[in-house]
Amino acid sequence: MNIIRKVSDLKIEIAAAKERGSVGFVPTMGALHNGHLSLVERARKENDCVVVSLFVNPTQFNDKSDLSSYPRTEDKDIAMLQSAECDILFMPSVEEVYPQADNRKFNFGTLESVMEGAQRPGHFNGVAQVVSKLFDFATPTRAYFGEKDFQQLAIIRKMSSDLKLDIEIIGCEIFRDDRGLALSSRNMLLSDEQLEVAPIIYRTMIEASKVAAWSPDLEHTKEWVKEQIECIQGFKIDYFEVVDANTLQPIALLEDATERRACIAVKVGNIRLIDNITF
Ligand code: PAF
Repeated sequence: MNIIRKVSDLKIEIAAAKERGSVGFVPTMGALHNGHLSLVERARKENDCVVVSLFVNPTQFNDKSDLSSYPRTEDKDIAMLQSAECDILFMPSVEEVYPQADNRKFNFGTLESVMEGAQRPGHFNGVAQVVSKLFDFATPTRAYFGEKDFQQLAIIRKMSSDLKLDIEIIGCEIFRDDRGLALSSRNMLLSDEQLEVAPIIYRTMIEASKVAAWSPDLEHTKEWVKEQIECIQGFKIDYFEVVDANTLQPIALLEDATERRACIAVKVGNIRLIDNITF
């Protein structure tokens, strides 16, 4: 695996790789887990060259303490990517990605006015800044993103289409542990006790789909979910929404959309976990 830190070196390697075939790209912020590896595995199957970026992007953290506590496990990440047969690992510094402040403002309209966008002002603008730069550096054939960040995936699809980028954006299913907990780098920050209880988030969403089937006014389901989660000490709901899976707009009645997604964000102590299911 070739570890590259400079954009100019990455561009040379990518140009050579493109002579040989397709380039699959997996952008990450490190603290890798099996969910990331499943993206790398898929990229490996579908492309001639696999590039992973590891960059904790400061512009997408609206909360500076969240940025400083974000887990960093560089040596372990490198070893994992080596075993996953990644060809190129791009690990730039902040100065390399942002030689000057990025003042670009993206407009994702109603896609960003709900859920994560509403709770974390500026977050998706920062994601779009870094992903557009990474796409520009790596010019991949395909780019792979997990559906755990369902809203992020929609925003990246929109950005790619607005910028008319010739990159296939591929959404990959959420990777869960055997108790249903969606894998996340933030799980590393949970205590053993919190980790033990955290699968309740997924289980509650599955049960909520049964509650909604009996009582299609979703307000009732939302209250039920809040009660289930918040009766656990230290667990607090940021939002639970059932949305139209295409527009991400919350719906009031089950029949208001044919393709639905239930999305949740829960604060577990200071750690914020998100998850979603087809509903
Ligand atoms: O999903 C993530 O890990 C990040 O938001 C991404 C896409 C790598 C951009 O920093």
